[in-house]
Amino acid sequence: MAVRALARVNLAAIERNVARLRGGLADGVGLCAVVKGDGYGHGALPAARAALAGGARLLAVATAGEAAELRDGGIPGPILVMGAVSDEELPVALGARSELVAWTEEFVRKLAGSAQAPVRLHVKLDTGMGRLGTRDVDEATRVASGIAVAGPQLELAGAMTHFASADEDRSFTALQLERFEPFVAAMRERWPGVVVHAANSAATLREPTSHLDLVRCGIAIYGCDPMNQDPFAHGLEPALELSSYVAAVKLARPGDSAGYGRRWTASSETWVATVPIGYADGIRRALTNNCDVLIGGRRYPLVGTVSMDNITVDVGAPEAVRLGDRVTIIGGDGNERQTAEEVARRIGTISYEILCGLTPRVPRAYHHDGAPVER
Ligand SMILES: Cc1ncc(COP(=O)(O)O)c(C=O)c1O
Repeated sequence: MAVRALARVNLAAIERNVARLRGGLADGVGLCAVVKGDGYGHGALPAARAALAGGARLLAVATAGEAAELRDGGIPGPILVMGAVSDEELPVALGARSELVAWTEEFVRKLAGSAQAPVRLHVKLDTGMGRLGTRDVDEATRVASGIAVAGPQLELAGAMTHFASADEDRSFTALQLERFEPFVAAMRERWPGVVVHAANSAATLREPTSHLDLVRCGIAIYGCDPMNQDPFAHGLEPALELSSYVAAVKLARPGDSAGYGRRWTASSETWVATVPIGYADGIRRALTNNCDVLIGGRRYPLVGTVSMDNITVDVGAPEAVRLGDRVTIIGGDGNERQTAEEVARRIGTISYEILCGLTPRVPRAYHHDGAPVER
């Protein structure tokens, strides 16, 4: 029986991607798997388990709630909350025994006063991302000292920065590394056990000098190319396939239209398949008249407006498809493949947004190279 819409996630692919990325690291360099945003749409808990099976040393999320979800799901090891933590989130983060990021002395004082169990902290220097962290090396050093002298409830675990354009502008990445280095040297001299980290997926793949003690990989562990091109060129395997099915096929005569606003009309006689997946599932409306789908190992153009619950596809001839046929939006079918990167490029975005945009209405089904896995 055809499933309306389904995201199939191959956890073995995540394991292998992590193992491959680790293979590009020098001995002793660890990999932190970034599973924020519900594991970039793949499901945080299954993605986290797969990443750990592939050899990830640490998990990272953005929010306290995401850390709590992993802890409640039975993840025993270290979890780093990389985002800012509001007063409201702090008890949740501490309850989940999270490691946290600090860049102000005030935050350190607040933690020193409220933490019951020891909290591991990573000091963040903003070397050019212009988001979280302090730009001031002296302030970062004061924050680190504050942690080091705070007593047993705080532990200085790491020093970090984040690259703004490792996927685009390598010279800016080099400049960020240059700004990070004096801080790193000072930290290593005073606190030799501190773990220093900076690289995201793009830097992990392209800038070995940025690997330091640990890399923080998100998109690449899911098998996507951080440069938004071909993941296979980096030996990465996309873990997620998104599909729906042919629910109806009808003749369109010249002048007949499909979808809201009549944004597509048949110029000659053709057949149009209706596929019950739409923007409420994460198929972006901007893909209107601007995407392909795969059916029976062939590509067909999405025609007409993407609606909330349906898309329409020009299949040409009635015999091209049958009711119930699988329709692949992301993934492979026969010799054809459409990557999340390709879908993203159609509308000027990145695979991250396409994957994170898959809504809860799309069930996720997990497998390990084809063998079903319970969530
Ligand atoms: C601080 C930080 N580190 C690492 C990552 C992982 O980035 P990517 O998915 O490009 O590997 C992110 C994600 O945006 C991040 O915010």
